[in-house]
Amino acid sequence: MTPLDLWLSRSIPMCLLLQSLVLMALCFPSASMCPKGCACQHADHPLHGLNVTCSLSRLREIPPDLPLDTVLLQLDRNHIQAVPDRAFQGLRALRRLNLSHNAVETLGEGAFAGLEASLEVLDLSHNRIVSVHKDAFTRLKARVLVHDNPWHCDCALQQALGGMAHNHEAAARVLCRSSELRDQEGRPFLAVDTDLCNLAHRTTDYAMLVTMFGWFAMVISYVVYYVRQNQEDARRHLEYLKSLPSKPRKPDEPEDITTVV
Ligand SMILES: *[C@@H]1O[C@H](CO)[C@@H](O)[C@H](O)[C@H]1NC(C)=O
Ligand SMILES: *[C@@H]1O[C@H](CO)[C@@H](O)[C@H](O)[C@H]1NC(C)=O
Repeated sequence: MTPLDLWLSRSIPMCLLLQSLVLMALCFPSASMCPKGCACQHADHPLHGLNVTCSLSRLREIPPDLPLDTVLLQLDRNHIQAVPDRAFQGLRALRRLNLSHNAVETLGEGAFAGLEASLEVLDLSHNRIVSVHKDAFTRLKARVLVHDNPWHCDCALQQALGGMAHNHEAAARVLCRSSELRDQEGRPFLAVDTDLCNLAHRTTDYAMLVTMFGWFAMVISYVVYYVRQNQEDARRHLEYLKSLPSKPRKPDEPEDITTVV
């Protein structure tokens, strides 16, 4: 065996091995990549997919590179302030999403778009949520936990809760920090049984009525003023006529001209 034969017989298997490793890394990027600050492991039986845990990682936003086969996603106890529209799009297997103990303030229409079919539990408790888009939870089949947030109870919240599958459970734990209705402030959302959406209509109706009444009052007072002014003029005119030297009276003429006015 020449040295060249020896070198070839050793290096060809090595080359093949190296090549297949490179190919594997290229073909399964999601399986080998875990977002920074997170731990990824295969979820316990019977779930098939990844258990991605990013709890307590000082995250300020939702990681953009979440593995597509994530079934459990723990994002709790971070500093996440916003859930952008379609933040979880593509995670078709996601069943549980925990966003509790963050700093989320508001939720837009498409925040959970793409999760309608798979999501079972969504934990949004202990955030700073004041308001949500009226369709933020529509078509989600998940149990949504929204307690311990500084809610502003208004028509949009009523509509958002109305569109949820497990709406009564969620609504039962909403405490109104502020509200369209004064007497609802600091009280549970369900304690006051008022349609907050019709309330808004009633307020605009009321404002309209007040404005119309204002205009009406202005017109009436102008008319009254005008009539008064004219009466005054007429009276002065009559007095002037009376003060004129009187002509010799015809026999059938009435005594006093003021009776006509
Ligand atoms: C997911 O991972 C966390 C920690 O990484 C573990 O505590 C938890 O039990 C796991 N859950 C499942 C269902 O695999
Ligand atoms: C989400 O995480 C918190 C801990 O930060 C935990 O108390 C809560 O039970 C979790 N929610 C769900 C639905 O697992």
